Amino acid sequence: MAVSQQDSKDASGIVESRLLIVGLGLIGGSLARALKAAGFKGEIVAWDRDADAIASGLEMGVIDAGGTELGPLVPGSSMILLAVPVLAMESVLRTLAPLIENQVVTDVGSTKLAIRAAAERVFGSVPANMVLGHPIAGSERSGVVASDSSLYRQHKVILTPQANTHPEALGRVKALWSACGAEVLEMTVERHDEVLARTSHLPHLLAFSLVDTLARQDDRLEIFRYAAGGFRDFTRIAGSDPVMWRDIFSANRDALLTALDDFESGIARMRRAIASGDEDALLATLDRASHARHYFDTLLNKTRYQTMESRNVRYRARPSGSVSGSIRVPGDKSISHRAIMLGALAEGVTQVQGFLEGEDSLATLQAFREMGVAIEGPQQGRVTIHGVGMQGLKQPAGPLYVGNAGTAMRLFAGLLAGQAFDTELTGDASLTKRPMARVADPLREMGAVIETAKDQRPPLVIRGGQRLKGIVYDMPMASAQVKSCLLLAGLYAEGETRVREPAPTRDHTERMLNGFGYPVQREGDTAWLEGGGRLIAGPIDVPSDISSATFFLVAAAITPGADLTLEHVGINPTRIGVINILKAMGADLELIDEREAGGEPVADIHIRYRPLTGIDIPEAQVPLAIDEFPALFIAAANAQGITRLRGAEELRVKESDRLQAMADGMSALGIKATLYEDGIDISGRDEDQEAEGPSYGGGHIDSLGDHRIAMSFAIASLRASDDIIIDDCANVATSFPGFVELARRVGLNLEEQT
Ligand code: S3P
Repeated sequence: MAVSQQDSKDASGIVESRLLIVGLGLIGGSLARALKAAGFKGEIVAWDRDADAIASGLEMGVIDAGGTELGPLVPGSSMILLAVPVLAMESVLRTLAPLIENQVVTDVGSTKLAIRAAAERVFGSVPANMVLGHPIAGSERSGVVASDSSLYRQHKVILTPQANTHPEALGRVKALWSACGAEVLEMTVERHDEVLARTSHLPHLLAFSLVDTLARQDDRLEIFRYAAGGFRDFTRIAGSDPVMWRDIFSANRDALLTALDDFESGIARMRRAIASGDEDALLATLDRASHARHYFDTLLNKTRYQTMESRNVRYRARPSGSVSGSIRVPGDKSISHRAIMLGALAEGVTQVQGFLEGEDSLATLQAFREMGVAIEGPQQGRVTIHGVGMQGLKQPAGPLYVGNAGTAMRLFAGLLAGQAFDTELTGDASLTKRPMARVADPLREMGAVIETAKDQRPPLVIRGGQRLKGIVYDMPMASAQVKSCLLLAGLYAEGETRVREPAPTRDHTERMLNGFGYPVQREGDTAWLEGGGRLIAGPIDVPSDISSATFFLVAAAITPGADLTLEHVGINPTRIGVINILKAMGADLELIDEREAGGEPVADIHIRYRPLTGIDIPEAQVPLAIDEFPALFIAAANAQGITRLRGAEELRVKESDRLQAMADGMSALGIKATLYEDGIDISGRDEDQEAEGPSYGGGHIDSLGDHRIAMSFAIASLRASDDIIIDDCANVATSFPGFVELARRVGLNLEEQT
């Protein structure tokens, strides 16, 4: 078969002149209606064994023509869509084989291996014009009469092209589904069947089986009469078409049996826990499941195929905002990650308050649930962790997905290298680009076995059951994540693990380990510990994150008339670069009521507007302010004269290349900056600019999904002459849930649009 050249596109973007739907039921009928609603100008014809279905389709205007004989409908059609039951595909393909000329053939079957095998039997190999596909949408109702033009809107359609699939054929099938409002994904046939076995076929099988079990009991009428929401919710899908599901279960037998095996072992585990009165194990499972369900939408977005969620959050920040009041920003991200990690490994119960309920730290929390740790909360920053001890983690059922969280991935790498089981760590697109050699190489030196993707990027596969030995490691870069990773691996290693840092980096891991009764020593630039000890649970009070406070510190520092207090901010000496730099630029900033909370120094910070001056940022401050530079660049753009930063090449490997992303964004606002490999020069306000007037223009910014870039440009609006629009801001939720509300509360003119 060769791909035919079609007429030029119509309003719907589809090039087909005539679509033949083979099997006119809910799926085919809904496609026809969706295409018509999208403005498809071609003809839609259908075949069905059942004359009534064709008659209904014609009467409802779903199709333009149709019949119960396939042969006459094939010539003149440009695309053929097979929507017959999976087990009927082969006989339909046999009928079609001699009739097909240059049509693109696609299908909607729920299993793909069986259909590919059928096509191979009929054609010898899957033809280049055949694109196997599967829309992930359905209903318990069936037949063309139930068809619905919005069935595919915001749903996923999975296409499973082969190596020989013609790109034009693939493009045409994609165009068809996109016009119906669906999101089109591609994966292999094997992966498709595996995923669907777990997310769709297994739940259907369980629902059918539960209803059947109850329906066969003597008192079934009683049971059904009293069956409440739980039964209804769980068994809704058992009302689906039995023949279709028989076909699907048979066609996807192997993947379904594997999924069923996993399910049976899960059920057996719960049974054992109930029978033996093991309430901790029971809670661990229930809690893990309950939270997995709650965070499904965000954390498990990557493996969700049923509905599509657009994550393009856009900010519109208008000038003319003000900055005043007294606020408390959310808990420290670094400390929140560590509280969960050490609490999980400790003996006893750890109570955490002030926990950051952001996506990054929640990813860490969820990962421990998946390793069998019972964790209650978070609820208004409170989390209760039922520690399992150093050797108590269990192998998770699948890869641990840590989203955007570099800290989670790198610290986990060390912690998991010392476990008895294998694990896989995956993350989102941004994390997948970040370097992992910095942790994988020294961990290998300790005896860990770690596999990475190309260029030592994630995913990481960590082989358990290795004997780790302590090393002396001279870190090539100042990184708290690397230091912490090695110290965590060191807990499981024989002998001492020593890490030397070229410049001081945040020491939360060392402080918290000591707080949990695990001695970590420090001499000069080296921290070390001895493996084989234990952690004893204790309370943790997480201070507000100075990195989140920074956006408001800079907001107040640049806005005439500003007067703001930030409460209970962590001022660990390894994190206060931003305070030192802002003060050096002339900011009017004072620390009030310095105190200690849970082993970390905290204070309230009072800041008022005072004109800033550009400075050469001392290199020693770079690791102490590493996350604060995007916001500090905005301070620099509002300072008199030039601010110079060097020795900050680490900024290029954060959630985005922050030097480049900020330079691009600043240039969109008309701010002058010169980039260097390891830094930037930013030209601030000229002497002749009106004293309290705008410092730069408005513009359109791409945050590249980097939370700190998005928030930095939001506060930049305070001194812009026009609106600043910022795209791709959803990841602000990784570190600063509630940012927009808080910003509005202090007086910023900021709006979120989705
Ligand atoms: C972090 C360390 C820093 C920082 C990151 C959090 C931590 O990274 O940028 O946001 O919690 O240890 P590096 O250690 O890679 O500099």
